Amino acid sequence: MAHTIGIGCDHAGKELKQLISEMLKLTTNTVVDYGVAADSKTSVDYPDYAAAVAADLSNGKLDLGILVCGTGIGMQITANKFAGVRAAVVWDELSTKMAKEHNDVNILCLGSRTTNHLRACDLVKLWLESPFGGSRHQMRLNKIREIEKKVAALTAAHN
Ligand code: RB5
Repeated sequence: MAHTIGIGCDHAGKELKQLISEMLKLTTNTVVDYGVAADSKTSVDYPDYAAAVAADLSNGKLDLGILVCGTGIGMQITANKFAGVRAAVVWDELSTKMAKEHNDVNILCLGSRTTNHLRACDLVKLWLESPFGGSRHQMRLNKIREIEKKVAALTAAHN
């Protein structure tokens, strides 16, 4: 199934993002590049790029997202602030497969300084090809959605 996939990075993730982007362009997916402002020499702030991709996923402009920084951690932290986003850093085949099967991760975060770049491309393919398990896993994701709504209501009440 073809998806619209947003891809973003900071300076540390620039090269890996390019590689993933080129690999994805060989597939039937549509790639939207959010990382064009960053080159690998100018230091930029990962929250800006994570927020741009996560906001567009949250508002339905994107089906999926990929975020790359040095470790993937800052991207994951930022992206998960947005409603409906399930972002996770993956590092090997098992974490990638589980991220899709159990958590239906919709933004994959990768560390360009922690993961071999060719392996990272294979992990992206594995994530795209792995099925979501549904059933009990869907029930747990529904609970996350309910928690998200409660947190939003509490935050609104305090403002
Ligand atoms: C940038 O030096 C680095 O902090 C960033 O790429 C990322 O690893 C943050 O989580």
